[in-house]
Amino acid sequence: MTFLVVFVCAVALGAQKEAEVSCGGKVEELLKKMTLEEKVGQMNQVNWPWERSKAQVELFAQQVERGQIGSFLAISNLPMSVRERNELQKIAVEGSRLGIPLMFGFDVIHGYRTIFPIPLGLAATWEPALVEKAAAVGASEASSVGVDWTFAPMVDIARDGRWGRVAEGFGEDPYLASVFSAAAVRGFQGIDPASPSRLMACLKHYVGYGAAEGGRDYNTCELSERTLREIYLPPFKAGVDAGAGTVMSAFNEISGIPASANRRTLTDILRGEWKFSGFVVSDWNSINELINHGFAKDQSEAAGRAVTAGVDMDMVSQAYLKCLPELVRQGKVSEKLIDEAVRRILRVKLRAGLFERSYVDPNLSKSALLTEGNLSAAREAARQSIVLLKNENSLLPLKKDVGSVALIGPLADNQSDLLGAWAALGKAEDVVSVLKGIRNKLSPESKLFYAKGCDIAGSSTSGFVEAVEVAQRADVVILAVGESKDMSGEAHSRSSLDLPGVQQQLVEVVCATGKPVVVVLLSGRPMSIGWIAENVPAILVAWHPGVQGGNAVADCLFGDYNPSGKLTVSFPRTVGQVPVYYNHKNTGRPPKEDNKWTSKYVDISWTPLFAFGYGLSYTTFEYDNLRVSPSRIAIGQSITVSAEVKNTGRRSGREVVQLYIRDLVGSVTRPVKELKGFKKILLGPGEKKTVSFTLTSDHLAFYDINMNYTVEPGQFAVWVGPSSAEGLEGKFEVVAALSE
Ligand code: NOJ
Repeated sequence: MTFLVVFVCAVALGAQKEAEVSCGGKVEELLKKMTLEEKVGQMNQVNWPWERSKAQVELFAQQVERGQIGSFLAISNLPMSVRERNELQKIAVEGSRLGIPLMFGFDVIHGYRTIFPIPLGLAATWEPALVEKAAAVGASEASSVGVDWTFAPMVDIARDGRWGRVAEGFGEDPYLASVFSAAAVRGFQGIDPASPSRLMACLKHYVGYGAAEGGRDYNTCELSERTLREIYLPPFKAGVDAGAGTVMSAFNEISGIPASANRRTLTDILRGEWKFSGFVVSDWNSINELINHGFAKDQSEAAGRAVTAGVDMDMVSQAYLKCLPELVRQGKVSEKLIDEAVRRILRVKLRAGLFERSYVDPNLSKSALLTEGNLSAAREAARQSIVLLKNENSLLPLKKDVGSVALIGPLADNQSDLLGAWAALGKAEDVVSVLKGIRNKLSPESKLFYAKGCDIAGSSTSGFVEAVEVAQRADVVILAVGESKDMSGEAHSRSSLDLPGVQQQLVEVVCATGKPVVVVLLSGRPMSIGWIAENVPAILVAWHPGVQGGNAVADCLFGDYNPSGKLTVSFPRTVGQVPVYYNHKNTGRPPKEDNKWTSKYVDISWTPLFAFGYGLSYTTFEYDNLRVSPSRIAIGQSITVSAEVKNTGRRSGREVVQLYIRDLVGSVTRPVKELKGFKKILLGPGEKKTVSFTLTSDHLAFYDINMNYTVEPGQFAVWVGPSSAEGLEGKFEVVAALSE
C-alpha cells in the first residue's frame, strides 16, 4: 500500500514536472516568435458588450486575427453564446499568426445558473466543503457554456456593513476567509484547472478594497503595513498557496498608492514573498483610473505605471494596447518586462488547457445546468447558511400541521431578490420563494395567508391594513423582510443598516397584533435590527439564499433542518458603531460599564448586537472540561487545546466549535481575540464529543515591532466556545526555551 502511494505520487510529481518543462518550452518558443504588438495583444482583455453592432463584432474578429486581444470578458447577465465563443476562438487558433487561444472570463461568484447563497451566506455555514462544492458546481455549469475563467473568489475582508460588497466576501475575519479562499480555489480549479468542468480562479480585489472609508465603494483606503499584512493579505496568500491561477488588482488606493499600480503589493509581496506564478489582471478600467487617482498624467503614463508595478493584463481600458508598444520603443518600459507578463499569461492559458481543448461542445450545457445534484447542493448550502439569532420560548420550529400561518412581507412572494448580487445567469423563475417553500412544507389541513404589506423600499403603508388583518387570522406570523438584491454588491453601498422603506413600521404594526412573530431577514449585509431583536421572539437570518432559498428557509422554520449557521460579520446596534468587529484592540481604556472615561458611547452599548461567530440551534450545547496541554511551551512547539461539547437538548444539531486566542502582551498591541480554529460537529441528543485543536507557531505568530513574522514569548489566553463573545477560557505560556 505504502509502496503504491509513493509510486503514484512519484508518477504524479514526475508528470507535473514534465508538464512544467514542456509548458516552459512552449511558452519560450511562442515568445521568440511574437512581435511586440502580439505580446501586448495577449495583455489586452476586452469586454463583449451586451449590445453590439455587426461592425463591432467584425472589428473584434479582425483584432483577434491580428493577435491584439488575449482575452474576452462578458459582464452583462448573458455571456457570449457558445457559437460566438467558438467562432472567435477559431479565428484565434486557426486564423491568427501564432494560434494562441483566447481565454474567456465571467463573474461566476455564487453559482452560474444554479445560484447558491451569496458568499457572505456561504461563509455562515462555516463549512469549507460547502464553499468548495458551490464553486465546483458554478465551475461545472459555467465551463459547459465556454467560460474558462471566473473572477472569483472575492476574498476582501469587510468590517463595514455599509460597503455593498460585504455580500460578495466571507466576512470580517482573516483566518476564516483564508480557509474559505483556499476552499473556493479548490472548488473552481479542482486538481487540474484544465479539466473540462473546471475554471481558472481569480483572487480579488488585491488588496485592501474592503477598507473603503465610510463603506463607500471605490473609496480611499488608509492601511498600515501591519493591518494590511495581518487582516487584508492573508486570504490572498491562502488562495495563492492553494494554486489560484490569477489575481485581480483592485480599484482602491492603499495609503496613497493605487492598488493597480502598487509595486510593493503586486511584485514584492505577491511574486517576491509568495512566489505567485500566475498573472494579474487589472479590475475594470482601473489602469485608466490611475489618471483620476492623480497617479498618472495620461493613459500612457498609467499604462507604464501599471505594467511596471506588475499588472499583466489590462481589463478593458485599452491602455496597454494603445500605449505599451510606444513606451517600449521609447525605452520607457523594457521589453523584458512585457515578456515576463506574457510568459505568465501564456503559462496560465496552458495550465487552463486552452491549447489542447480550445473549443466547447455546444450541447454540453444542456445536461449541465440546474441538475438535480446541483439544486440539492444549493439547498444544502442555503439551509446551512441560515443563522438563528433568537428563539424565545422555543417558538421555532413550527409544526407542519400548525392551524394557520400568516406570511407577510415584501420578500415573501419574491423570487428575484433571493438571487442576491452578482447572480450570473440566475433567473428569478428558478427561485423557490419563501411562500412556495412554506406551502411545500405545510400539511394540507393548515391554512396559509399571505400579504405583501409593503415594498422593500418606498414609503407607502397602504398594504398595512391587509397585513394586520391577515396576521390577526393566523396562529403564527412569519415576516420576510430585508433588502433587494440591488442594495448590495458593487456600487451599492448604503449609509443606513436599518430595514429599508417602511418595513420596520410593518414589523411593528404586525407585532402589535400580539401574535407570535418570526422574522426571516433576507439581506446582503449585516443589519441593525435592534428593535426586532428586542421585540420579536424568533429571528432567522437567511441572507440572499439563492434558487433554493424558500425551501431552505422552510426546512429551518419547520425543523427539517436544525439551524447551525454562525455569523461571520458582527451585527451592529446602529450604523454609528461601524466599523465594528470582534478582533479589535483593547485600547488604553477598555470599555467598563461603571466608568464613563472609557472607550464607549454615551447613548448605546459598545458591544455589537450580535457578535461574530454567534448563532443558535433548536438544541442546546454545553461546553466543559477545557484542557490546554502543555500549558507551557518553547517557541516552535505546539499546543493541544480541547473541550467537551455536549448536546443537552432533545434534537440532533450541528455546532461550530470555535477556538480563539489572545496574546496578552506583545512588542506591538494584539487583538482582544483572534480566531485560530473551528470545527463543525454533529451531535445527537445527549451525545458528547471531545473537540481538539492544535496550535502551532503559525497560529501564534504575528508581525512584531520590526515587522518580522514571529512568535514572542509571553502569556496567552485561549477560549473554546460557541462564538467570539462566549467560551471556556484557559491560558498558556510561550517561553524562549524550556530550560528558562
Ligand atoms: C468590476 C468588479 O469590481 C469586479 O469584481 C468584476 O470581476 C469586474 N468588474 C468584471 O466584471
